[in-house]
Amino acid sequence: MKENELVEEIQRLKKEKNAVILAHYYQTADIQDIADYIGDSLGLSQEAAKTEADMIVFAGVRFMAETAKILSPQKKVVLPDIHAGCSLEQSAPADKFKAFKEQYPDALVISYVNCSAELKTLTDIVCTSTNAVKIVESIPKDQQIIFAPDKNLGAYLNKVTGRNMILWDGACIVHETFSARLIQEMIDQHPNAKLIAHPESVNAVLEHADYVGSTTGLLKYTINSPEKEFIVATETGILHQMQKASPDKIFHVAATERNGTQCTSCADCPYMKLNTLEKLYWCMKDETPEIILPEETIRAARQSIDRMLEISARHGL
Ligand code: 13P
Ligand code: SF4
Repeated sequence: MKENELVEEIQRLKKEKNAVILAHYYQTADIQDIADYIGDSLGLSQEAAKTEADMIVFAGVRFMAETAKILSPQKKVVLPDIHAGCSLEQSAPADKFKAFKEQYPDALVISYVNCSAELKTLTDIVCTSTNAVKIVESIPKDQQIIFAPDKNLGAYLNKVTGRNMILWDGACIVHETFSARLIQEMIDQHPNAKLIAHPESVNAVLEHADYVGSTTGLLKYTINSPEKEFIVATETGILHQMQKASPDKIFHVAATERNGTQCTSCADCPYMKLNTLEKLYWCMKDETPEIILPEETIRAARQSIDRMLEISARHGL
């Protein structure tokens, strides 16, 4: 099928099945353009919790679709490619994390939403990059905290909040490739550009950034800033919305390197980019791959997500 036929068929299936398409900013431009809602991890979970649709078509990665299922268990949740995982999720198998957690019986667990449903059942409060600072700050200062699974986000939170959370050793394979050395060369070439970075990036990058924030935060910053040029240290998909919102501004993807060699495609998340318009069409048509989770997992994981949504709402996030 040609792209315009796929788009028409997807629109038709959306009405026929009372489906809603939720897409993360890291999806390809064609998928973002057909979505009913485009957002960051927090926005997508808030949307999934309140949708009236019968079927949620989740154009993102599996942990996001699982979060949608946990929040709307009575709805069918489908994902274009079931192999769309996440390196952070893979870094923290529930059994290993459980053993780690047992070493700190008094600690409270805050987990970044980029983790499996099983890990969420071992978590007290989930967070996303939008609300992480507020969530950490909502915990009394003398309470010991384990933060999982992203050590870079955890280190950033420790710095911003002055806490000393115990960090699980996980990282995002995309954000950890942004190179402070190569970015400095870019800044030298584009002296008027502002460096903006997602907090999953390493400290050497974050400490040079003019702004650090979630994908929604980064997008808003580029819209509201009077500056005209930006070096963006996050997954490439977000540039579609940045360029759409500010056609007169210039956006550069921050340089990446792996094993000391500059990398041309490391800023593309290999998991996010598994989804295609064609797979989106087939998953709507066949209603598969579907996210199925045990009832007990949904019940236990939901508490940690509900706590996050309550704290976010209290702070107007
Ligand atoms: P946010 O959507 O919270 O900005 O997180 C980015 C991300 O890495 C999702 O996988
Ligand atoms: Fe996971 Fe990183 Fe891809 Fe986000 S960009 S889904 S954190 S691997």
